[in-house]
Amino acid sequence: MCGIFGYIGSDNGIHYTLEALQLMEYRGYDSAGIVFEEEKAFTLIKTVGKVAELKKTVNTRVANTTSSKALGHTRWATHGIPCEKNAHPHQSNDGSVVIVHNGIIENYQELRTELVAEGYSFISDTDTEILVNYIEYMAQKEGGIKQGLVRALQHVKGAFAIALMSTRDTSSIYAMRRGAPLLLGIGKGEYFLASDMCAFLQHTNDVIFLDENELVTLHDTEYSIESLYTGERIDKSIESVDFDIQSAQKQGYAHYMLKEIYEQPDVIEQSLIGKLSDGKIVLSHLPKEQPPRIHIIACGTSYYAGLWGKYAIEELAGIPVEVEIASEFRYRKKALDKNTLVLAITQSGETADTVAGCAIARELGCKTMAICNVVGSTITRMVDTVLYTQAGPEISVASTKAMTSQMIALLCIALHYSSNRESEQYREYIGGLQHLASTVRDILPQTEKIARQYAELCKDKKSFFYLGRGYCYPLALEGALKLKELTYIHAEGYPAGEMKHGPIALVEKSLMTIALLFDDEFGEKTQSAISEIQAREGQVIAIAPLGLVTTADFEWHLPKTVDLLQSFIMLPALQLLSYSIACLLDRNVDMPRNLAKSVTVE
Ligand code: F6R
Repeated sequence: MCGIFGYIGSDNGIHYTLEALQLMEYRGYDSAGIVFEEEKAFTLIKTVGKVAELKKTVNTRVANTTSSKALGHTRWATHGIPCEKNAHPHQSNDGSVVIVHNGIIENYQELRTELVAEGYSFISDTDTEILVNYIEYMAQKEGGIKQGLVRALQHVKGAFAIALMSTRDTSSIYAMRRGAPLLLGIGKGEYFLASDMCAFLQHTNDVIFLDENELVTLHDTEYSIESLYTGERIDKSIESVDFDIQSAQKQGYAHYMLKEIYEQPDVIEQSLIGKLSDGKIVLSHLPKEQPPRIHIIACGTSYYAGLWGKYAIEELAGIPVEVEIASEFRYRKKALDKNTLVLAITQSGETADTVAGCAIARELGCKTMAICNVVGSTITRMVDTVLYTQAGPEISVASTKAMTSQMIALLCIALHYSSNRESEQYREYIGGLQHLASTVRDILPQTEKIARQYAELCKDKKSFFYLGRGYCYPLALEGALKLKELTYIHAEGYPAGEMKHGPIALVEKSLMTIALLFDDEFGEKTQSAISEIQAREGQVIAIAPLGLVTTADFEWHLPKTVDLLQSFIMLPALQLLSYSIACLLDRNVDMPRNLAKSVTVE
């Protein structure tokens, strides 16, 4: 989603801003822009498409210009199509205020009507242009940009983050967040604002995590933070972030996605550190007593991880678990109380619907917990307990290693609350977990090779079913999602038992089915679905552990491991299949069309 960046300091802000926008490209965007201050006037440059295009235009138009104050933006369209006039930054009608904005202004129609009555007109389709003019209008009324900004932001509704400059005070940059991410990086004689810390980590590791409605004022050599509503000064601690910028680079892999798939064994190892010791899983910061119920909320791949977690927690710990898509959870009438632990699963910690779901859970008096990858992200600062997944930065828009790390976290919760730690099954899982990383590491190259062969077979198909039961069901949903996202081929994930209840009508020669099987009580049942599809001339590829024989047209055998741990071997196979098809179809693997890494709007 949109990326905001701001620089103030003694160096060339234009250069820093272009570099930062490139580092935030992975968030997903369709246009980009920059504004800088020079001799108390603003220059805006915007382009549709990649940041490389913006760089080229900047180099042609203002090659030798430098500026100590600049703002930049990558836009993911919400109001109006991707085009130059809708790209950010936006400027007020009188030219005195410029703004970059991430998120949505909910009452923009109301503000628009008020401004039109005052004689304002607009050239873009965006809520941002209305916001910048509203701020300017308030600045006139209040007799100062800061006072006007405060008044305007107190009136504006929505979830957003902004950074702005004004000719009324060219020595400052102002910024604020409400429901969308924004961080303040503290350098040596320079400050950075960004939606994402990867935009400034090559310059500083010192970060202030801004909270909602905290107004930041940046000058060349100092900064201040105050409450938007009371004006009280807020002293925030500066945190030193331990984040390896190296791991956010491709390191010889053709795509970030491939690199991140290959990082999964390391992620498994990393996520077990401090949790697995003396043959037991202990999550020391979780209460010892089982919560009476767990209600998982999440979106997309994180939701599928949650569904997988339901099977694991109910099987191993016997705790009733519900799993719900966060965008449904947030608006539904709910019967939850303090006996329910609401568990939010999110890689980014910034997904708008999951953030809103957490806020509602707190209002309802539920206990809250997050499984999250990004330290200091919005959700981690809202919930009672956080289980960090330690997957490292996930740059590819399509999630891979994050799901593995979420499943490990969920399995750890299941084992932590396991009702029978002395059982054979518990010991088997612990033994399996101890070897899991090396098993996955060993099989990845061969799995990639086979995936590339199956990709040839699949690349011209127009439609896919992914079927599974038990633990294979959430994996089937994820397999179908990865295929859709990466290749733009239609794919549906189904519980294999649902086939007869409608979807089977779609089966014909051109449909390819990927059937997922474990060597468990469901294997035979999924086999029945395979036969039914074959009886209607559909082709089937079965992905199953070695030794499990099916009637599928093609059998892709993976090494066998302990029960549900088989999921950690199956998941990379599904990821690599979609990845390989996407490569053959020459798709933009790391940045599929229309997608954003961090969905910070509803
Ligand atoms: C799929 C994908 C998305 C995310 C979803 C939730 O590959 O990446 O479906 O899983 O947008 O994001 P987080 O986990 O950041 O809340």
